[in-house]
Amino acid sequence: MNPNVTKPFSFELPTKIEFGKGSIKKLPQLLKEFNVKKPLFITGSGSTRKVLLPKVTVYLEEAGIEYAVFDKIEANPKDYNIEAAAKFAIENKTDGIIALGGGSPIDAAKAASAIITYGGSLKDYYGRWKVKGPVQPFIVIPTTAGSGSEVTFSSVITDTNEQFKKTVKSQYFGPKVALLDPDLLVSLPASITAATGIDALTHAIEAYSCTESEPVSDACALYAIELISESIREAVFNPTNMDARSGMLMGSTLAGIAFSHSDVASVHCMAEAMGSLYDAAHGVCNAILLPYVMEYSLDYAVERYARIGRIMGSTAADDRQAAKDAVEIVKQMVKDIKLPTLSDIGIKKEDIDKLAHMSEENGSTPSNPRPMTKKEYVELFNIAIND
Ligand SMILES: [Fe+2]
Repeated sequence: MNPNVTKPFSFELPTKIEFGKGSIKKLPQLLKEFNVKKPLFITGSGSTRKVLLPKVTVYLEEAGIEYAVFDKIEANPKDYNIEAAAKFAIENKTDGIIALGGGSPIDAAKAASAIITYGGSLKDYYGRWKVKGPVQPFIVIPTTAGSGSEVTFSSVITDTNEQFKKTVKSQYFGPKVALLDPDLLVSLPASITAATGIDALTHAIEAYSCTESEPVSDACALYAIELISESIREAVFNPTNMDARSGMLMGSTLAGIAFSHSDVASVHCMAEAMGSLYDAAHGVCNAILLPYVMEYSLDYAVERYARIGRIMGSTAADDRQAAKDAVEIVKQMVKDIKLPTLSDIGIKKEDIDKLAHMSEENGSTPSNPRPMTKKEYVELFNIAIND
């Protein structure tokens, strides 16, 4: 047992969750509910824009709702993407925001909403609680099962001058609605299903095992781990399996609720450093690092990792063995779904010092179960590279 119900905590979820196959049909009604006359879609320029956007806008056209589209959000969204989206919204006089896509457009839309509503530039909002009040009505339609950003208060944006990922966090960034339609995930390629799925699993594992965990987020994290473990292989290799797609989408949203009320930890600190330096896919970085960070932190979170291990299939009676099994089960999962390895990213030995420094600076470092400083991060990056 690891009771976690003695320390005080508060829990708030301002986001209405609309879940189910075909739920995008509800979009016109939701826009009316929030009195939005001309929404702005914020999305990327790839297949989401070409294939999925028309599947959503058809319902707005049927309902006679005018809309605008900003489709220039890149992966690991950049500061200039946010400034451009905000400028576009202001020029087009839109009065609501719909983020369509994975974590990048959703995070970008959150940060842009502050500028659209209150003016200024992105730098004015770096950090926490800088947004003065409610932002324009904001609806999120995720097209990956990964970031959980549809239910979180944070946005991670790359500052291209500093080459550093900045967090913009506000209680007003909690979307009005998370519109979760598993139908939109069916065309997601295997590699992205795998990488985003491991991102979601990492959110759940870090939320449950970190020092900031609390009971409501624990409940969400544990069920997220179960749903993702059961569904991820099937979603990767049998993409039209709606049970698997639904399991992944629900799992990633629950993991988002979990880590936004608890925290993430060193896997994310290291993954964000790698994402900033190499523009590498966030989920891939997490997948590579997760087993190493778990192994390194094991002595500091035996009971919690043991519970994770048992949810993922360990039958060990002994906690230490079940915790070790958790590490091995995650390793095997990453292998099975054929994610790239550290050598594919091309991490350079001479960058380790910088990566370790960036990881230490990350606000989630104190949340890792094992206390981490630059020294430990150097050690961990070396272990991962030399494995
Ligand atoms: Fe993440």
